[in-house]
Amino acid sequence: MGKIRLAIVGVGNCASSLIQGIYYYKGKAGKEFISGVMHNEIGGYRIDDIEPVAAFDVDAGKVGKDLSEAIFAAPNNTVKTAKVPKLGVTVMMGSVLDGIGEYMSSVISVSPDKNANVAKVLKDSKVDVVVNFLPVGSAKATRFYAEEAIKAGCGFVNAIPEFIASDAAWEKKFRDARLPVIGDDTKSQVGSTIVHRVLTDLCKNRGAVIDHTYQLNVGGNSDFKNMLERARLKSKKISKTEAVQSQMRARLEDDDIHVGPSDYVPWLDSRKLGFIRIEGRLFGDVPFNIELRLDVEDKANSSGVVIDAIRCCKVAMDKKIGGALVSPSSYFCKHPPQQFADSDAQKMTEEFIAGKRER
Ligand SMILES: NC(=O)c1ccc[n+]([C@@H]2O[C@H](COP(=O)([O-])OP(=O)(O)OC[C@H]3O[C@@H](n4cnc5c(N)ncnc54)[C@H](O)[C@@H]3O)[C@@H](O)[C@H]2O)c1
Repeated sequence: MGKIRLAIVGVGNCASSLIQGIYYYKGKAGKEFISGVMHNEIGGYRIDDIEPVAAFDVDAGKVGKDLSEAIFAAPNNTVKTAKVPKLGVTVMMGSVLDGIGEYMSSVISVSPDKNANVAKVLKDSKVDVVVNFLPVGSAKATRFYAEEAIKAGCGFVNAIPEFIASDAAWEKKFRDARLPVIGDDTKSQVGSTIVHRVLTDLCKNRGAVIDHTYQLNVGGNSDFKNMLERARLKSKKISKTEAVQSQMRARLEDDDIHVGPSDYVPWLDSRKLGFIRIEGRLFGDVPFNIELRLDVEDKANSSGVVIDAIRCCKVAMDKKIGGALVSPSSYFCKHPPQQFADSDAQKMTEEFIAGKRER
């Protein structure tokens, strides 16, 4: 089987964890089960078949460096899981647009390097799949890189809460170009969203009524610092809230559901804490509640899913399937083109991987 030539947009903590993971799992081929991942192989592609060949950022501390160094440059602070050898991939200067928000502008100095011609770099580097890891609120920048990916004939995994796969006009652009897109906004491996959804589904299946719920998240990385800027959170809020609302028997009133990132706590570093509360009624309308606290390494949680999304995207590229991949998007993302219960989305994704379902 071939390799998957990967380009990364935004060399932050998610990129760092993902690239380290490729090296962490190197040489673990042929085993039926390996810890920490859903699939050792997808369509014949192992984790170490993913080769980063291009990367874009705008931070002067990252642009111009080899990708193996840039993934450890401040403000990145994700946990170290593997040594990454020199990759021979220089981080190129992208286009800033709306990538840097109010809170990150005091942390990041924009590189003085000339903007790269992104589509040309993607083409010249023979990139198969582009992963978008831009900060929340990068509406213009996401659309810019998505357009460049289309121009260069690449598949696109949209890990962030900007609507591309779930937006009819953008989905059509990818379908017309016969290029696959998975999105939007990664649903982390054992993150607040999937835990909240599964509990919601459980209540529904057991006949319990949910009256109110909240999900509060705090963390100490730049993702959380950036999200202090409320104006950047419009689509994040929709993505996270709809991910839970879609699993309810009947939609809750807006005031009865609060789902969102809530604060930046620097000393938490790369950890993220999620606090979930569900209040409702059981048999005879007798009240009950669930209180849950999740404590996770935020970026490993992202990579455990993105590692499969990249491979599903390449499988679709090989088959020349264009447009949104409904099954992997619904299992891997918070805001897919169509929502399903996670058990159904998992089944559909397994069928996609087995070649029994086109998208
Ligand atoms: N569990 C998770 O971590 C998780 C889950 C779902 C979604 N996401 C999303 O993934 C995205 C990435 O998260 P992260 O923790 O890596 O963020 P991060 O802040 O660590 O990294 C973002 C990177 O993008 C760079 N950047 C900013 N503007 C740019 C531009 N115009 N062009 C190129 N690069 C630019 C920054 O310099 C930085 O290196 C966020 O939107 C986050 O919300 C993360």
